[in-house]
Amino acid sequence: MRSAAMTDFIERVKEASDIVSVVSAYVPLKKKGNNYWGCCPFHQEKTPSFSVNGEKGFFYCFGCHAGGNVFKFISLAENVSFFEALKLQADRLGMPLPEAEKSPEELRRDQHYNQLRQVLQMARDYFHNCLTKTEMGAAGRSYWTARGIGDGIISEFSLGFSPDSFDKFNTAFQRRGISESLLLEAGLVKKSERGGVYDRFRNRVMIPIADERGRIVAFGGRVMDSGEPKYLNSPETPLFNKRRMLFGLDRAAKAIRSAGKVIVVEGYMDAISLAAAGIRNVVASLGTAFTREQCRLLMRYAPEVYFCYDSDAAGQNATMRALGILREAGAKAKVLIVPEGKDPDEFVRRQGSESFSRLMEAAQPVIDYQLNFLFGKARLGSEAGRQEALKSVLPVLYSVRDDVVNYNHYLRQVAGRLSIDEGIISQSVARYRPQPEYVGAGQAGRSRVTVAADQTVRQKEEPGQGTTGAARVRVEQSVRNAGRVILRQLWQDAGALPYLLAEIPLEEYPDPLVRGIIASFVKDVAAGRELSESSLDEISSAELSRAIMSAVPGEDLMGLFEECIAVIRRAVLKNKYEEQRLLADALDHKGNTEGSLAALREASRLKKEMDGLDSGKKFSGG
Ligand code: UTP
Ligand code: MN
Repeated sequence: MRSAAMTDFIERVKEASDIVSVVSAYVPLKKKGNNYWGCCPFHQEKTPSFSVNGEKGFFYCFGCHAGGNVFKFISLAENVSFFEALKLQADRLGMPLPEAEKSPEELRRDQHYNQLRQVLQMARDYFHNCLTKTEMGAAGRSYWTARGIGDGIISEFSLGFSPDSFDKFNTAFQRRGISESLLLEAGLVKKSERGGVYDRFRNRVMIPIADERGRIVAFGGRVMDSGEPKYLNSPETPLFNKRRMLFGLDRAAKAIRSAGKVIVVEGYMDAISLAAAGIRNVVASLGTAFTREQCRLLMRYAPEVYFCYDSDAAGQNATMRALGILREAGAKAKVLIVPEGKDPDEFVRRQGSESFSRLMEAAQPVIDYQLNFLFGKARLGSEAGRQEALKSVLPVLYSVRDDVVNYNHYLRQVAGRLSIDEGIISQSVARYRPQPEYVGAGQAGRSRVTVAADQTVRQKEEPGQGTTGAARVRVEQSVRNAGRVILRQLWQDAGALPYLLAEIPLEEYPDPLVRGIIASFVKDVAAGRELSESSLDEISSAELSRAIMSAVPGEDLMGLFEECIAVIRRAVLKNKYEEQRLLADALDHKGNTEGSLAALREASRLKKEMDGLDSGKKFSGG
């Protein structure tokens, strides 16, 4: 994608930049060891977990997992794209941008997408003007007023109105010289059976949907009465992929980062209404299904997710499914329960934002929510019903089995609710084996990857514990386990990748299986993609799933990651140390005393470095 000249330019700007002074303009930093530390500008914290490594040119926050190079920092701090961050920094340094060299095909595509964006933005303005400036917009204006949406929010969200007409929009836009094919592609008009085109959105209030960077990609149009469908949405286009989209993210990004948490609601109106009430760290998932892509997107902004779906059956099932996805991604999650079957929009309008804040404080931890959900369906009156209920909660208990304190707490709770002896339940958990395609969330929570993969690993590993394929390298269990934490951290946040690689060069990574997975992540990052498991072979992909699954609720991934890097580093040093000792012996044998002594000196230097790691130094330089 990028031309060689641009890649070279990026490198030169990076070289010329001092990340410590760039960051210092935003956050006071203090030197400790090799790194500078401060309070993270991207989430709220009292003790510094935000570190900057001047030599290696990157930053990383152990609290919210934001991390990357100087451009990433600027793009987060200024809420601009990578490219804009590059331009900003180059400008500060007085380095002129090279002329872009793109292939004609790339140029054509860029130009085409820009045209589409332009048309969508014009449509947004058109609908907004219809609402705010025209006679025909009166119906829309009274609709918004009735829903408690005032002028401030109308202009902030660029809400609009589509005229009650067959082709007013189409005519207006074609008159402005916009081609029919572009309007069709943008999803703004439709082809009729007789070959003409007509407006897709008619007589609806309009909600523009923007991407992360605030560029309009689609619309949702709501009927103003009880007509069907309630919401008409733009079709998927090259710019609008529903699975990757979170409504409101562009406006909420700042608030999400500074709160360190995000509230996920179902509907457009929930997000808009909460924003109107001053609660701004909110996004809507556009319907009920929360996808992995949306999860990954959110994890880049905040480590803690509050789910606030409607409390009807569909909403509960969707919540259970979402919790499986969040768990897989290692996110901290809680569930916000809106009482009396209201949706967040109605609740906040009637009860106000303070009542909503109280709901936040009372949000249920995932396990509590899952247990309550399952017990809510149980028939505890009969012995058979209790046994069935026990069966249904086993996956949930199993999922906390490694966390002693929580496990005992929930064990006691389940025993009490079922009037079954704790010992019996505990035995059932010990015997429990997750079923393929079952994720410990009752009937609603199915997720293929999680547990199916866990089983694959179990079957694959028993024959040759810790060995891998052709290479047949013995891998110590501690190294394999540390690798799992590292994979988990990377999966959650690719920003930790440069940090890891600076400590442990890829080619030195001692576990070939994990090394292969990291190498594939490196490729993803280099290609500007999100990390993905799709290019991994079966064994690697199973190992990755297992790593992700072995998350313990509430684990301190920040502390663990640090420790695990030290474990790997120690293994690397130990291997090198043993190599040097062997070399020394061999050279001595050949009568090469000088060479042998040099190897011994190197061995002893390595030994010292290992001891340095043991004395608990933070991040010994690579
Ligand atoms: P809801 O029906 O809960 O929407 O659907 P809502 O936001 O509470 O709507 P109001 O308050 O009645 O106006 C949740 C979301 O599902 C999608 C929309 O994104 C909606 O916000 N949806 C719903 C559709 O896309 N089409 C529909 O017909 C209904
Ligand atoms: Mn609603």
